[in-house]
Amino acid sequence: MSDASPILRINALTKTFDDFTALHGIDLDVAEGEFLAIVGPSGSGKTTLIRLLVGMDDPTDGAIWLRDQRIDVIPANRRPTCMVFQSLALFPHRTVGQNIEFPLKLRGVAAKARKDRALELLDLLRLPRDYYAKRIQQCSGGEKQRVALARALAFDPEILFFDEPLSALDYRLRKTLEKELKDLHRRTGKTFIYITHSLEEAMVMSDRIAIMRAGRFEQIAPAEEIYARPVSPFVAEFMGEVNFLPLRAGMVAGAALSSAAQAALAGQGGTLVLRPESLRLNPQAADLTLTGTVAAAYLLGSRMQYRIDSPAGELTVEVLREDAVAGGIGAPVTLGCDLAALHLIAEARDAAA
Ligand SMILES: Nc1ncnc2c1ncn2[C@@H]1O[C@H](COP(=O)(O)OP(=O)(O)O)[C@@H](O)[C@H]1O
Ligand SMILES: [Mg+2]
Repeated sequence: MSDASPILRINALTKTFDDFTALHGIDLDVAEGEFLAIVGPSGSGKTTLIRLLVGMDDPTDGAIWLRDQRIDVIPANRRPTCMVFQSLALFPHRTVGQNIEFPLKLRGVAAKARKDRALELLDLLRLPRDYYAKRIQQCSGGEKQRVALARALAFDPEILFFDEPLSALDYRLRKTLEKELKDLHRRTGKTFIYITHSLEEAMVMSDRIAIMRAGRFEQIAPAEEIYARPVSPFVAEFMGEVNFLPLRAGMVAGAALSSAAQAALAGQGGTLVLRPESLRLNPQAADLTLTGTVAAAYLLGSRMQYRIDSPAGELTVEVLREDAVAGGIGAPVTLGCDLAALHLIAEARDAAA
């Protein structure tokens, strides 16, 4: 994030439905031109937040600022800077051009200016200009998404909001559109706020990720930091495959620690987070060492993933194929990692359930 004042500021935002609190006084600053992903499991309050931001619902308490203007008190139709991207809301029987021009027509923009803008947006979204006259029904899934994006951009909003736009699409189309969205963000320089329950999607596209849990932000940071230094077992687990080792009084049951590791962890307790790719098989030397047996092996293209039964529980290890262990299921192995690969969370893992 830059030092400049934020384009969007959320201050102590609260939303309650009867006696249920969906958002617990959350704060957030979004920088101009940032791509922020908001990630969280179903029911964590993501859609509720977006609805407040675009004015589809009113907060119970707190404030939303767009630059110097407080916008939570302004009706949705007078917040021209905020658009929600909804692919399913296209008019299927109308043309691509009519769909893109729809918001401009609503606001009384003249026909010639509308068409010029629509053609410009077709260029921006890398759709051929002759799609202007094509019907939505004749477009592929990916083309429909691009048309919907063009329409969302038609009025030149300062912030684009997305609420899980790709979740219903098949894997390959999703992967393509993730990259296109990131590219579109770069080319337009606009601020994107993108909601998803897929952390993988968030990592591919965003500058920062805000992890939501039960109506609060649990961690807001760049993807690398969330991956390397999750603040809680909840965040660590959300980031994909991970191993947790309970640490009690500076010791890990079933593991041997080097003197450097003993010194670094002395007297501490909590949960050690260890990524599968940080564990090595049969290392010469390591700061933390465990022995175990291979319980399962999976080929992941250029890498192998192993499940290892160890005295510290079942662990997941990923190595390059050339570092794969000889011997199959049941083969004895030693696992090791460096001190730098161990990330300590003060919270015991059980508390996260
Ligand atoms: N209009 C509503 N009335 C009552 N509860 C609601 C309403 N909208 C959302 N909720 C509740 O608020 C919580 C968060 O919902 P939502 O923001 O849709 O989550 P997400 O988008 O992260 O899946 C859920 O428990 C949901 O049931
Ligand atoms: Mg939702």
